[in-house]
Amino acid sequence: MLSVINSATTLGIDGVIIKVEADISIGLQNFSIVGLPEASVKESKTRVQSAVKNSGFDIPPKKITINLAPADLKKDGTKFDLPIAIAILYALQNVREERLGETVIIGELSLTGELRPVKGVLPIAVETRDRGFKYLLLPEKNAPEASVVDNISVIPVSNLAQAISWLNKETEINYDRENNCIIRDSETEYPEDFRDVKGQEHAKRALEIAASGGHNIIMVGPPGSGKTMLARRLRTILPPMNFNESLETTKIYSVMGLLKTGISLIRNRPFRSPHHTISDVGLIGGGSIPKPGEVSVSHNGILFLDELPEFSKSVLEVLRQPMEDREVTISRALLSITYPANFMLVAAMNPCPCGYLGDPNHKCLCSYPTIQKYRTRISGPLLDRIDIHIDVPPVQYSELSSQREGEPSSRIRERVIRARQIQEERFRKHSNIYCNSQMTTRLIRKYCPLNSEAQELIRNAMEKLHMSARAHDRIIKLARTIADIEESEKIEARHIAEAIQYRTLDRNQFN
Ligand SMILES: Nc1ncnc2c1ncn2[C@@H]1O[C@H](COP(=O)(O)OP(=O)(O)O)[C@@H](O)[C@H]1O
Ligand SMILES: [Mg+2]
Ligand SMILES: [Zn+2]
Repeated sequence: MLSVINSATTLGIDGVIIKVEADISIGLQNFSIVGLPEASVKESKTRVQSAVKNSGFDIPPKKITINLAPADLKKDGTKFDLPIAIAILYALQNVREERLGETVIIGELSLTGELRPVKGVLPIAVETRDRGFKYLLLPEKNAPEASVVDNISVIPVSNLAQAISWLNKETEINYDRENNCIIRDSETEYPEDFRDVKGQEHAKRALEIAASGGHNIIMVGPPGSGKTMLARRLRTILPPMNFNESLETTKIYSVMGLLKTGISLIRNRPFRSPHHTISDVGLIGGGSIPKPGEVSVSHNGILFLDELPEFSKSVLEVLRQPMEDREVTISRALLSITYPANFMLVAAMNPCPCGYLGDPNHKCLCSYPTIQKYRTRISGPLLDRIDIHIDVPPVQYSELSSQREGEPSSRIRERVIRARQIQEERFRKHSNIYCNSQMTTRLIRKYCPLNSEAQELIRNAMEKLHMSARAHDRIIKLARTIADIEESEKIEARHIAEAIQYRTLDRNQFN
């Protein structure tokens, strides 16, 4: 007797329907799973057998074969426990057919038959709907995650017996999807705010420009000068995510199992701050079934690399491709998966190995060659992708102790949103370009004409500060953003003058 059940898994950040077939035949007592299962799926056997028995059913001493189709797709995770158990019970005629054809089933079983939450439910729910299924039968704890998706009925169950009873139409389960769609934090509810930052007007201005034009930024300053504090606040001035951005970000969190229980949709932009000991795979993704890395977990948000020179050369090297393409493709023998990776990079570093170079309150003990060596750890090609460089000196005690609050993030964000609208309008005709930082040389020519005064200024700066041709383009892009914040259509000399200040690392001492 052969039975087929619909289940699903994820491939990248998309859901894929998997058919679970159970064949029970006369023969030596045996239980096997075929169809490229990874170790975690093979362990399913033990859980399923115990769960079925402890839910009050008998498994006869026969030959049971489970096939997961399509067979060429590697499958990991524990989400096939429930469909495997149901396929067996269907083959044994303990489950009626009626609802099976229009239901997708996922869930991990405990030995007692209780259901545990699984990863990747959001993409699976989207696929369930798109493929025309009516029901998604899943562990209770995963229900809020699935409830973002409309036009399907979410059927949460807490154990195997309940699942079977629903499939057999012995009980009805009415889950109020809309009222259970729990949206994590509205966009105005970040725990941090620029209001908390005293002084540092120069750094705050630079971060506003970074947010406005989508420019990557690096901050150089001694320990305690507030670099981490500033970086953590950048997302609070970015425009709120639209629904599609939220959905994409949530899908990545869902696949990674990072979604907090009970949360349906992430509204806050991610802020990720991986430690400098992170591996290439941890940063850009990979593994035998390729998982997303930090560049994708920070999709639509901020990737903060603190102590940039401490990261390994190879890690900084692999970062370049996603920065350029805004996605990462991981290729394996059997498949190739693309994950989105559209993040803003914020980097921080000390000015020298001891950290105190230029600090009025501490003496720097580093020799000139060690300072040089420290700084050249960041490769030119990576620096080339960082438009804004700023020095962040420690704030004076008098400023720190002042009672005056800084400008709140909400006000800064209003200006950022306006500047972004101007850019959206400008790049409407260019697909895949949304902000100034993404302009190619050709678009710079088109959208950033300079008057003679501005041209003269930039030529002088390049000569005096020994800047490269690449730096030249970056200054113009930044000047475009500065002009947009002012809602000035023309780029004036004063915009160029300010932009030049944000290229401190181009200046001779760094080359
Ligand atoms: N401008 C500032 N306004 C208010 N507090 C500050 C400021 N700069 C630093 N601090 C305080 O000092 C702490 C250390 O700052 P941090 O951001 O960790 O520095 P860094 O990352 O540069 O080493 C912060 O958590 C904050 O409490
Ligand atoms: Mg820090
Ligand atoms: Zn030093």
